[in-house]
Amino acid sequence: MTLRTPLCDLLGIEHPIGSAGMAGGTAAAPLAAAVSNAGGLGGLGSVTRQGPDWLREQIRATRAITDKPFSVNQWCFLLDRAPMFLDPCIEERVPSVTLSFGDPTPWVAKLHDAGILALCQVQTVAGARIALDAGADAIIAQGGEAGGHTGSVATMALVPSIVDIAGDVPVVAAGGIADGRGLVAALALGAQGGIMGTRFVAATEATAPAHGHKEAIVSSSADDTVWTDVFDIVDGLRWPEGISGRTIATPFAREWHGRESELRQQRDAILGESTVAGEAPERAHSAYAGQAAGLVHDVRPAGEIIKAIVAEAESVLARLGR
Ligand SMILES: Cc1cc2nc3c(=O)[nH]c(=O)nc-3n(C[C@H](O)[C@H](O)[C@H](O)COP(=O)(O)O)c2cc1C
Repeated sequence: MTLRTPLCDLLGIEHPIGSAGMAGGTAAAPLAAAVSNAGGLGGLGSVTRQGPDWLREQIRATRAITDKPFSVNQWCFLLDRAPMFLDPCIEERVPSVTLSFGDPTPWVAKLHDAGILALCQVQTVAGARIALDAGADAIIAQGGEAGGHTGSVATMALVPSIVDIAGDVPVVAAGGIADGRGLVAALALGAQGGIMGTRFVAATEATAPAHGHKEAIVSSSADDTVWTDVFDIVDGLRWPEGISGRTIATPFAREWHGRESELRQQRDAILGESTVAGEAPERAHSAYAGQAAGLVHDVRPAGEIIKAIVAEAESVLARLGR
């Protein structure tokens, strides 16, 4: 039994698996290219302190390692204020862009004008309707168990609800998938593939910040994460309504989750001098990860991760077929 779905043809990939375009430098060229070389859709994160020039370098660096399709993630609410973040994608003619967090409508049109596929990541059925009206080429239904910024509806309920309204537009599941079992579950819900973030943070090629992000994921269980605004307050970023960040419950997150207004009011005093340079002290660094952290037990090359997921998914499908 094969795992191939029409999504594979749309994106020009072999397996219906993608790595999320994760901000902060985690999903840079080495990870994206390794995933694409293994037959998945590699994702580049675009938002770092270095700005659009960093993204342009990463797009070129990805192309130096792979000739396979890959994708670049963008935050719509940031593009509204800083549209130049999209320029490298248009100028370098990337194969596809994933648009998250905010209204994708103007950006879908801009990408289509440039001949680039627009995949819209949404957290609600209402968000999916907006993305479908905008002409999205695929909808990524992101459940609340996902790592990083996300909404509150679980993948299990969100994916089929969006499949029911998407017509011919493929739906991809994100949130809570870290192995072949999760991928098959997503396919059973009507999705045509799965996008993973947490599993790929713990890939050898991920360039996670040096404060133990990969190790924290490997040592965490499914109930060690928290969905919180604490690190957005630290970063001074205002996210769209209904979106918070799912992170490993670090000591700082445990201390301030539920006391957000206090943190907001006394942020600079709590964080200390280092905020002046724009960089929060290490104890206040996030460790964004989803509930699937409980399924991640090792740091491995991305190609091995994909091979194992495909093999497990095929054996689960064969077992269910019996
Ligand atoms: C460390 C990290 C950073 C992320 N950064 C982004 C981002 O910049 N843009 C985005 O759309 N999603 C981001 N996400 C969410 C992913 O796109 C994806 O929806 C999620 O990782 C899927 O759930 P999973 O973590 O259970 O695999 C991030 C996730 C993680 C774990």
